[in-house]
Amino acid sequence: MQIVYDGAMTDQLDFSEAELLATASIEQPLFASGKRCHGGFDQVGNYVSPRTEHRWRAIRNWQDEHRRQSGNEILDAPLSQWPAQFPSVAQTKYLLREGVTQPTAASLTRIGTVEGFGGLIRDVGVEDLQSHFADSIAHTALAHLDRGLFEAHARDEVGHGEEAGHKEMWFATRDIAFDRSFGDDEVAQMIQRMGFAPAAGGATPAPVRLCPEIEPGLEGMLRFMIGLMFIEVSAFHTFAWAEAVLRDRDLVAGDGTAADLVSYIRADETPHVAYLQTALTEVRDRSLRTTSGAAIDGVVIVDRIWAHALNESLGSRRELQLAATVHEIEFAVKDLVRGEEILQQFNALATV
Ligand SMILES: [Fe+2]
Ligand SMILES: [Fe+2]
Repeated sequence: MQIVYDGAMTDQLDFSEAELLATASIEQPLFASGKRCHGGFDQVGNYVSPRTEHRWRAIRNWQDEHRRQSGNEILDAPLSQWPAQFPSVAQTKYLLREGVTQPTAASLTRIGTVEGFGGLIRDVGVEDLQSHFADSIAHTALAHLDRGLFEAHARDEVGHGEEAGHKEMWFATRDIAFDRSFGDDEVAQMIQRMGFAPAAGGATPAPVRLCPEIEPGLEGMLRFMIGLMFIEVSAFHTFAWAEAVLRDRDLVAGDGTAADLVSYIRADETPHVAYLQTALTEVRDRSLRTTSGAAIDGVVIVDRIWAHALNESLGSRRELQLAATVHEIEFAVKDLVRGEEILQQFNALATV
């Protein structure tokens, strides 16, 4: 599809990196477990996500401009495509009532660890992105990936300077909920049990190419963006689960502050999903350059990667995560006198 910029721009479409990284003025900074986190509260006490002074406006403007220029809607990955959280809120609360806290602590540790991987997005950008397109990418989210969008995303996930990001905020959530800090060794063991240990021998094999028509770096960037977007969308089930469990003041410590912290992280996630959807839509509705100098419709490339990533997210990756979670629950009860009975009760709640 040929997109011609017609110069009828009325809203701002070009933003500096400084603008996309700017945080609106904050009256009260956010602290969790004594640690300064990103974001904070405005004059009336509403939570303000970090680096959103201009980012939301920018994303909306790029979306509006894309609809106007192409007539096409922004891609969506509906949450309903992903199954609900396991274990359920009822199952998790049952374990907590029985004093079995380890699986929930491990789940919160796993989420924080996965959030940390999101920081890798600042490394996947390709140089001179325009050279990979037959159509112009001026005045788009695509043109801003390496000019603030990837960096803002990475900072939100792993923190920046003195401010903690989501990785540490999830760990703080866990520490508040269970009223203790978890040592590095304990965390390392949890992560290993949950399947995040480095592969033996260090190196992981390079993924099989899905789109040999285009440069490997561009394919890598698009695969990372789509894979991360699916993690971000499916995580909204996890947020709902965590908020419901951590809101229960009889079962977890912190008087609801752990659940509040999760709600702030959830608010920070929405621009991540939105800019990834926007940039991928922009790719989909443009022509890409192949390695031989020909052109290929972006829709062919994006849809191929999308289908592959969705299959992985709903299939093999979910299977691995379920197996690790079941293993963690069995590990937590195996030495308990009532361990077998607790496991039976837990499983009986599966359909509730
Ligand atoms: Fe995050
Ligand atoms: Fe995120």
